Amino acid sequence: MASTEDKAAKQESATGWKDSFYNPRTGEVLGRTGSSWALILLFYLVFYCFLAGMFALTMWVLLLTLDDYVPKYRDRVPYPGLVIRPNSLDLSFNKSDPLKYVQYVKHLESFLQRYNDSQQDKNDDCPPGEYFLQDDTEDMSKKACLFKRGFLSLCSGLSDTNFGYSEGKPCVLLKMNRIIGLKPRGDPYINCTVKRDTPIQMQYFPSEGRIDKKYFPYYGKKAHESYVQPLVAVELLLTKDDYNKELPVECRVEGSDLRNNDERDKFLGRVTFRVTVVE
Ligand SMILES: *[C@@H]1O[C@H](CO)[C@@H](O)[C@H](O)[C@H]1NC(C)=O
Ligand SMILES: *[C@@H]1O[C@H](CO)[C@@H](O)[C@H](O)[C@H]1NC(C)=O
Ligand SMILES: *[C@@H]1O[C@H](CO)[C@@H](O)[C@H](O)[C@H]1NC(C)=O
Repeated sequence: MASTEDKAAKQESATGWKDSFYNPRTGEVLGRTGSSWALILLFYLVFYCFLAGMFALTMWVLLLTLDDYVPKYRDRVPYPGLVIRPNSLDLSFNKSDPLKYVQYVKHLESFLQRYNDSQQDKNDDCPPGEYFLQDDTEDMSKKACLFKRGFLSLCSGLSDTNFGYSEGKPCVLLKMNRIIGLKPRGDPYINCTVKRDTPIQMQYFPSEGRIDKKYFPYYGKKAHESYVQPLVAVELLLTKDDYNKELPVECRVEGSDLRNNDERDKFLGRVTFRVTVVE
């Protein structure tokens, strides 16, 4: 008894299902007539065209308000990281074997090409100690302050083309990452220390590792095309006693409001690298 009822129900639901897909009596497909379907399709077509149009319009308006020269939306100016050249956090070489340090020397030499007199003579000799503000100049492209590699004296690669590496007194160049609009307060300078008991003699170029305010603010890649970052060179005046040891060096930017002790970012305003010289 129950089984025949089941059968009937099954048959009914089967025809019901078929009918719901296409009902030959009314000519409905999935419960709707052809014209009803056509209307729905038309509605969605118009609806999506409208959405696409809205999207395109808002994008267009947004792009109109953007300026190639100035980034528009920035909530605050971030702090810069500190990086070194040669681009290695583990400088290790044999001072008697040029093959072992030639990579560092080549790297420094090519990095300093932009600081050649021939390049920097095009830039301005700005007054020291003050920001080089050009906010209200008509011209979209900004002028840059010159920084000649000669400022790095013994680490310029001009007097000593080996940057001290052949004498076991290697030069390391430091620079801050470019941050648009950054204006460091105070008088920033670089201070390097070797983390061990006996200190190591170091020499800074420019003197005292100063970073002049005139190289700030930076106005961005497109506006400030000939901008070069100010550099600080530190020469580690190692002696025989310092050879064959791994020396951990830490450099920080100090004397300003720039952060150099962030817990999470150990390259924010500071950098740590190792130097090993053998002879
Ligand atoms: C350094 O290079 C010199 C000259 O090639 C070589 O005599 C010396 O053994 C090297 N020192 C080390 C520690 O490899
Ligand atoms: C930069 O100066 C160095 C040393 O005077 C020279 O060898 C090099 O060719 C110069 N490079 C450019 C691009 O002027
Ligand atoms: C450089 O840093 C060391 C260690 O933090 C500190 O003792 C020294 O006074 C600093 N030198 C300068 C010139 O700030």
